[in-house]
Amino acid sequence: MRVYILENEAAIGKAVGDLICEAVISKPDIVLGLATGMSPIPSYERMIARYRAGELSFARVSTFNLDEYCDLPREHKNSFYSFMRQNLFSHVDLPPERIHFLDGGAADEAAECARYEAAIEAAGGIDLQLLGIGRNGHIGFNEPAAHFTISSYKTALAPSTIAANSRFFSDVPMPRHAMTMGVGSILRSRRIVLIATGSAKADAVKTMLEGEVSPRCPATALREHPDAAIYLDPAAAALLDK
Ligand code: GLP
Repeated sequence: MRVYILENEAAIGKAVGDLICEAVISKPDIVLGLATGMSPIPSYERMIARYRAGELSFARVSTFNLDEYCDLPREHKNSFYSFMRQNLFSHVDLPPERIHFLDGGAADEAAECARYEAAIEAAGGIDLQLLGIGRNGHIGFNEPAAHFTISSYKTALAPSTIAANSRFFSDVPMPRHAMTMGVGSILRSRRIVLIATGSAKADAVKTMLEGEVSPRCPATALREHPDAAIYLDPAAAALLDK
């Protein structure tokens, strides 16, 4: 695991955005695993800027997002689908048929999760997975639990996750459930890049990097991955010993 501490969110956005752009340039039909939340936004802005400058195309890229809320229409402004449209997809030439999401409204949840895993496999697997981290150490929506999860599934959100994300919901209550890739789905990616910024993430970052590998902090599983890079700002790195 490689850990980079850069001066601020903008520097991380440039570094990670450039890393993703270079990966797309060297493999135009790359399969990207994408994340929502505030952490990846500067990276998406960098990707959009380089696309607008004519430096790369997303025409052959495929994307799989990590997670989606249940009981929230895809068109709702707070769905992760809407988030991705607003922050990346509507600004680049990524064909809609190459964009993949778990359907949080699917009646048969198990079938939907199996469909998603099969679609990832049929695409050749995820080449590069972008991640944020929850304050409790969650990745995707894999909340602290007794076991690591192997593949996509429907999950109940932790009270701390609901508390952290409720501020984004004004017209409807925040959903209590989501569908998410499992920790195993994430670890099957060939390369992983995680971004954590701000003091609210310092505890989770310390446990991820220096705590016991345990499903009580799902992000600790990334220590088992052969190609994971962690990008931190000084506030998120503040509690690290090393
Ligand atoms: C949500 C998402 C995660 C994300 C986390 C942190 O819970 N499901 O994928 O990493 O929020 O979000 P932020 O980057 O806004 O702190």
